[in-house]
Amino acid sequence: MNSPLRIWHPFTNSALDLPPLLVEKAEGVYLHTKDGRKILDAISSWWVNLHGHANPRIAAAIAGQARKLEHVILAGFTHDAAEELAARLRKWTAPELTHLFFSDDGSTAVEVALKIAVQHFSNQGRTEKREIVALEHGYHGDTAGAMSVSDDSPFTEPFRAMRYPVHRVHSAYCYRCPVGLQRETCQIECVQQLETLLAERGEKIATVIVEPLLQGAGGMITHPVEFLQKVRALCTRHNVLLIADEVLTGFGRTGKMFACDLAGVVPDLMCLSKGLTGGFLAMGVTLCTDQVQAAFHSEARPRMPACKSSRTNRSLTESRQSRGLTRSASRSCADCIRLEKRDRSGQSERSSSAPRMRGIFPRCGRSYTSFFWSGVFCCGRWGMSFTFCRHTSFHRMNCTECTT
Ligand SMILES: Cc1ncc(COP(=O)(O)O)c(C=O)c1O
Repeated sequence: MNSPLRIWHPFTNSALDLPPLLVEKAEGVYLHTKDGRKILDAISSWWVNLHGHANPRIAAAIAGQARKLEHVILAGFTHDAAEELAARLRKWTAPELTHLFFSDDGSTAVEVALKIAVQHFSNQGRTEKREIVALEHGYHGDTAGAMSVSDDSPFTEPFRAMRYPVHRVHSAYCYRCPVGLQRETCQIECVQQLETLLAERGEKIATVIVEPLLQGAGGMITHPVEFLQKVRALCTRHNVLLIADEVLTGFGRTGKMFACDLAGVVPDLMCLSKGLTGGFLAMGVTLCTDQVQAAFHSEARPRMPACKSSRTNRSLTESRQSRGLTRSASRSCADCIRLEKRDRSGQSERSSSAPRMRGIFPRCGRSYTSFFWSGVFCCGRWGMSFTFCRHTSFHRMNCTECTT
């Protein structure tokens, strides 16, 4: 008989830690365990829960939406729920932030921001302007890029060689001041390291990423607002994009809707997640300004592949719409139209180039991906993904003592 499939709990060491608490239900700020205990969820399930567990209004809204439309690919499609969320975020976010990109969680919101920042310059022919600056004690997630901009930790150590290089500068850690000063008398001298770096390498640096005012996982380090203001001013002076990772601080955690509001700072890119769904579902959002987005969809950039494909898509879509072929808006060659016609007449696509085309342009529907790699199997659907592995005896994971 097969052995049971055991859950590999994140940030725990199954060899050392107590067995996980079995939570049966939750209400408001309390978790109720199967053995009858009532536990205050003081970490709000890792900073995601805003309106209480099992909030009936959110639960009903999700159920209603799931019955109507659970998911549709956003490439070439939109829907009321996405548009309504964008409209609501519009009310809370700085007017300068004009575009919004959906993704899966906090880490991917950060990945998206970093990629947008680098591609923003590369689309303008400035491929050399791609370096990234991040703060000491920073934490931005666990995917490869987010882990690269996060500061070193026992969790990143096994991946040292594959994290991409990042310039690391002082954060405003007043309690343990990196330049040995006192906040009462200092002039935010800790920012000088960034100032020098940008003066020397500003032409090569694409972006500076910060957790505005509060570095969470790095130790709940609070910064003076002046630090963020100075970082903003330096980025502007050197034409470097400022990414505010508000995954933790967003949606009122620091007193204002966003930490940047407390400092009166508008970033070029802002990452949101966690509180975005009140902890009910995984979702990420990256916002950016018109100026950042313009480098992606400008008609004035005929040599840009993105523009080209966008224009091709548009004209193809228009021609397809005029023929009533609206199922797949992305296929961009005559082949696709032939395939579509054959589809409609019920013929098989196998004899043509259909498998390749299908692989490149998924049809309207839920995304579903799977692949095998070294005995690890991953699948994802509806903003949730699973990774299966052959062996569950990875006891040394996440344990500093064992791994050294
Ligand atoms: C500031 C910050 N950025 C990014 C992340 C990553 O978010 P997620 O765990 O949803 O990938 C976190 C998670 O704690 C975070 O605190």
